[in-house]
Amino acid sequence: MDVLSLARFQFAMTTVFHFFFVPFSIGTVFVVAIMESMYVRTGNPSYKKMTKFWGNIFLLSFAVGVVTGLIQEFQFGMNWSDYSRFMGDIFGAPLAFEALLSFFIESTFIGLWMFTWDRVKKGLHLFFAWMIVFGTVTSALWILTANSFMQHPVGFTLRNGRAEMSNFGALLTNPQLMYELGHVLTGALLTGATIITGLAAFQLLKKHDLSEANKAIYHKTMRIGMVLMLIFSLGSIAVGDVQMRYTITEQPMKFAATEAVYKTTGERAPWTVVAIANPKTHEVKGIDIPDMLSILSYGKTTGSVKGMEEVNKELQKKYGTTIDNHKMDYYVPVNTLFWSFRIMCGFAALLFLMSLIGLIVTRKGKKGNRFFLWIMALLTFSPFLANTAGWLITELGRAPWTVYGLFTIAQSVSPSVTAGQLLFSNIVYFCLFTTLAIILIGLIVRFLHNDPEEYAAKEDAKRMDPFAKEAF
Ligand code: HEM
Repeated sequence: MDVLSLARFQFAMTTVFHFFFVPFSIGTVFVVAIMESMYVRTGNPSYKKMTKFWGNIFLLSFAVGVVTGLIQEFQFGMNWSDYSRFMGDIFGAPLAFEALLSFFIESTFIGLWMFTWDRVKKGLHLFFAWMIVFGTVTSALWILTANSFMQHPVGFTLRNGRAEMSNFGALLTNPQLMYELGHVLTGALLTGATIITGLAAFQLLKKHDLSEANKAIYHKTMRIGMVLMLIFSLGSIAVGDVQMRYTITEQPMKFAATEAVYKTTGERAPWTVVAIANPKTHEVKGIDIPDMLSILSYGKTTGSVKGMEEVNKELQKKYGTTIDNHKMDYYVPVNTLFWSFRIMCGFAALLFLMSLIGLIVTRKGKKGNRFFLWIMALLTFSPFLANTAGWLITELGRAPWTVYGLFTIAQSVSPSVTAGQLLFSNIVYFCLFTTLAIILIGLIVRFLHNDPEEYAAKEDAKRMDPFAKEAF
C-alpha cells in the first residue's frame, strides 16, 4: 500500500472510532439531564436514582471519547502536515475555542455534577447537568465549523498558498454548518436515547430476580428513551432531508453517487431502491420506482437529476483535468455512498417505527413482551452504524478534495512520512482502539451488574468527597 492509502485508512479508522463516543456522550448526557429535570420538577426519588445510574454510563463514554480525540489529533499532525499548513489559520481558532472553552466547561461541570449531589440545592445541581450539555453542544459546534469549511469554504483569502481567515462570522454562518450541526446533534440525541433505552431493555431481559422498584425504573427509563427516540428520529429525518437538498446544488457529485445516477435523468427521475453500480462501465443494476427521485429531491413528480458523468465534465471544466501533474477525475466511491445512504436512512425509519410501536405497547403501565425487549436491546447498536454511514457519505463524497475546490487529498498528505511509519502507527492505533473498546465494554458490563436502587444507596452511603480515596 502507498503512503496516501495508508494515511487515508488511518484517518478513517481514527475518525470512525472517535465518533462512536462523540454522539454517545452528547446523547446520553442530554437524556440524563432530562431525567434530572424530571426529578427536580416532581421530587420523585426514582428519577434521581435513574439519573445517577445512567449518568455513570455517560461518564464512561466521555472518558474514552477524550482519549480517542487525542489520537485523532496526533494523526492529523503526523500524516497531514501539508493540509495543516494550508488550513491551520482556519482550523486554529475553532479548535482553540473547543479546547479552551467547551472542553473546560464540560470538565468543570462534570466534576461539579459528580461531587455535589445533595450538597447543593437541587436546582443548582440541575444547572450543572445542563451546563455539561451546553459544553458538549458547543464542542460539536466548533469542530463542525472546521469540517463545514472543508465541505464549503467561506470567509477566507488565499495568500502564499494558504487559506487565511478573513471573516470569522462567515465561518459561523456557513449554511453547511447549520445543516451539519442540526443533523449531527439530532443524530447524537437519537444515539443517546437509543443506547439508554436498549440497555434498560437488556437489564430487564437479563435479570430475572429484579426487585419491583428496579423493574419500574427500567420501564420508566424505556418510556423516556422512546419518547426521545421518536422526537429525534423525526428530527434527524427532517434535517437530513433539507441537508440532502442542499447537496444537490452544492456537491452534485456526492448527491448523484448516493443515488447511483451516472447519466442525467429525464424530467421524471426514477428512484433506485437497491442497486449494484459498476464504476468502470457505469452500468447500474437495480430496482427502480418511477418518479420517486424527483419527488424526494424536489417534492414534485418532475425535475431532472444531474448524473455523475455530466457533473464530472463540469468539474473538469471548472477545476481542470490535471492538478500538480495528477490526472483528475471527480468521481466518488459510488457503491459505498449509495449503500451508506440507505443504511443511514433505513435505521432512521426503523428507530422511528420501533419507538412509536414501543410507546404504544408500553402505554398505560403495560410492559411489552420479551420479543419486543429483544428488538429494543439489539437496536442499541444501530445508531453507531447510522452515524458511521453518515460520515462515510460526507467525507468520501467530498473526494478528491480535503477542502472543497481548493486543496486535494493528494496535496494534503505529509511529504516526509513513510509507508513503513504509517503501517506501524496503523497497527499501534488499531491495537490501542481494540484495547480501549474492550475496556469500555468491560466497564459497562461490570457496571450493569448494579441496579439503580442499590447503586443509588451505595453512592449515598459513600457521600463522595473529591479528595477521598474512593473518588478515584
Ligand atoms: C432519512 C433520514 C436521513 C437523511 C435523509 C439523512 C441525510 C444525510 C445527508 C444528505 C448527509 C450528507 C450531508 C453532507 O455531506 O453534507 C448525512 C450525513 C450524516 N448523517 Fe444522515 N440522514 C438521515 C438519518 C440519519 C441518522 C438517523 C443519523 C444518526 C443516528 C445520521 C447521521 C449522520 C451523520 C453523523 C452524518 C455526517 C455529518 C453530516 O454531514 O451532517 N443521519 N445525512
